[in-house]
Order: sequence, then structure tokens, then C-alpha cells
Amino acid sequence: MPKPITLALAALLLPAAGLALPAVVGAAAPNQVIKQRHHNFEAMGRAMKGTFDEFKRPAPSIAVIQAHANVLADAALKVKGHFPKGSGPESRVKTEALPAIWERPADFAAAADRLVGATRGLQTASATGDLAAIQKAAGAVGGSCKNCHDSFRKAKA
Ligand code: HEC
Repeated sequence: MPKPITLALAALLLPAAGLALPAVVGAAAPNQVIKQRHHNFEAMGRAMKGTFDEFKRPAPSIAVIQAHANVLADAALKVKGHFPKGSGPESRVKTEALPAIWERPADFAAAADRLVGATRGLQTASATGDLAAIQKAAGAVGGSCKNCHDSFRKAKA
């Protein structure tokens, strides 16, 4: 009769599992959110590269640039939510996020807002089809990436 034994085992193991759960979630959560933000930043990096590659073509496609602008604007909105407390270097997960993010939250939020504004600017400029305006707006997006990285991302050694 294996069933009752299995049940008895489950009853024995369950409280232990219940106790262990918060610690496990605590350890796994930073890992997950750091992975998500890396993916999001990588998507932004690709969209930026795609945009600037398009500028180099003899006849840049406005539709392609618009698609990149939409990716950037969506990704920009996620940045603030990707840095919960506990997801910095103290999580021991590999990250280039600097403690300044949590020490100066208002400044970090402002840097994230600047990105959101700049990506909206790129969307607006893309909709006009005016290449000079689009290039200027893309430059402003790049400036907002650098602005945040300069203060909040660990510099490459
Ligand atoms: C509000 C701050 C902020 C803004 C704005 C920002 N970044 Fe970052 N970025 C960071 C931080 C912090 C990290 C380090 C994240 C980590 O390692 O956990 C990072 C990391 C990255 C990475 C490396 C991701 C990886 O897999 O390690 C790329 C690529 C990147 N950013 C691209 C961009 C681009 C492109 C823009 C602009 C379109 C941008 N970022 C705007 C803060 C920002």
C-alpha cells in the first residue's frame, strides 16, 4: 500500500517546505528581476543599434525606425520597475547596477523618466518622417542612456 506512506511523507515534508519557501523566494527573486532587466536593456541596445544602422543606409526606412522607436518606448516604461530593493550588488547576482540607484532613488527615477520622455520624442519625430528631426531625437535617446549609465551603472574596467 504505497499511497498512505506517500501521504504520510508529504505531511512530514510539507511544514518544512512551508518554512523553507520564503528563504527560497528571497534568493530567487533578485535573480529573476536582474535577468528581466538585462533582457530589457539588451532589447533597447538592439533597437538603438538598429536605428543608427538605418541612418547609415542610402534611404533609411522610416517604418523600420518607427518599429525600433516603439520597442524603445515600451522598454523604457519598464526600467523603473526592474530595480526593486535587494536587486543590487548585495544580491550577489552578477549585476552592474550601482548602490546609488537605491541611495538616490529620486535621481534614478528622474534618469528613467528622461529616457521615457526621449523615447516618446523619437516616436513623435518618427511619425513626422522628417529624417533630420528623427536623428536629433535618436541622439537625445542616446544621451538619456548615457546620462543614467554615467551615474548608476558600473563603469567597464
Ligand atoms: C535609468 C537608468 C538607465 C537608463 C535610462 C538606461 N540604462 Fe542601460 N543600464 C542601467 C543599469 C543600472 C544597468 C546595469 C543593470 C545590471 O547589470 O543589473 C544597465 C545595463 C545596460 C546594458 C547591459 C545589459 C546586460 O545584459 O548586462 C545595456 C545593453 C544597456 N543598459 C543599454 C541601454 C540603452 C541602449 C539605453 C537607452 C536607450 C539605456 N540602457 C538606458 C541603467 C539605465
